[in-house]
Amino acid sequence: MARLEGRAAIVTGAASGIGRASAELLAQEGARVLAVDRPGSDLTFETQGVSPLEADVTQDTSPGTVISSALERFGRLDVLFNNAGVGANALAADMTDEAWDYVQAVNLKAVFRLCRAAIPHLIQSPAGRIINTASVMAEGTDYGLAAYCASKAGVVGLTRTLALELGKHGVTANAIMPGAILTGMTAASFARADVAEIWAKKSVLRRLGQPVDIARVALFLASDDAGFVTGQAIAADGGLTLRV
Ligand SMILES: NC(=O)c1ccc[n+]([C@@H]2O[C@H](COP(=O)([O-])OP(=O)(O)OC[C@H]3O[C@@H](n4cnc5c(N)ncnc54)[C@H](O)[C@@H]3O)[C@@H](O)[C@H]2O)c1
Repeated sequence: MARLEGRAAIVTGAASGIGRASAELLAQEGARVLAVDRPGSDLTFETQGVSPLEADVTQDTSPGTVISSALERFGRLDVLFNNAGVGANALAADMTDEAWDYVQAVNLKAVFRLCRAAIPHLIQSPAGRIINTASVMAEGTDYGLAAYCASKAGVVGLTRTLALELGKHGVTANAIMPGAILTGMTAASFARADVAEIWAKKSVLRRLGQPVDIARVALFLASDDAGFVTGQAIAADGGLTLRV
């Protein structure tokens, strides 16, 4: 039997990369999936059970629209996978308020607001799940990543607190910390063979991650197999962060 038979899931950032692979994998495992991404994104899927919704997660109306669309289409909500995210590269000394705010709006505030809107429905699920995509940059850093690192550390803190507050309802909340994954976000950097090689070699497995590497972690966290796992930030980085 499929691992998510009968479950209903929302995946944000589902047009590309980790979100697309996750929407497809969760649907292949029996879930009905609302695949959310920005207006104008390519939200066509061949996998059965994936249903598209164009929405910018930073808009004030989006949490309500996203959650009510899932309920209208599926009649229930079991899994919220907050995965939409944007990168940013500016030294702290040069960063504008606008750049800072934009990264926090997509990567952190939208995650909080979608969680808040989903909670009343997730607590009615027999296996409510919140999964948030953070990053190894929640714990590490690099030049130019002040806004990104702050947003992803925020995601981990938010996730932990949600786990604490929702445990009594049987809802789990976990974050995934991907390492270097070949997606839309990193495609331009990794198109340079020298850059791709450096990041592949940082992983003890000597390769870049693929979106499905992270989708499989999301599937685990969404499934009954992870029923006793909550409040965790799970690195899926091919061992990138092992060495100090
Ligand atoms: N690729 C990596 O190496 C890596 C590493 C660590 C963490 N992450 C995180 O993984 C998540 C997925 O990113 P990815 O690597 O698959 O990149 P990606 O660019 O392929 O996918 C991100 C998706 O999010 C969507 N998105 C961005 N802003 C949005 C908004 N306001 N409303 C709705 N959708 C929006 C984009 O349109 C895009 O389809 C992000 O949270 C990212 O920070 C990626």
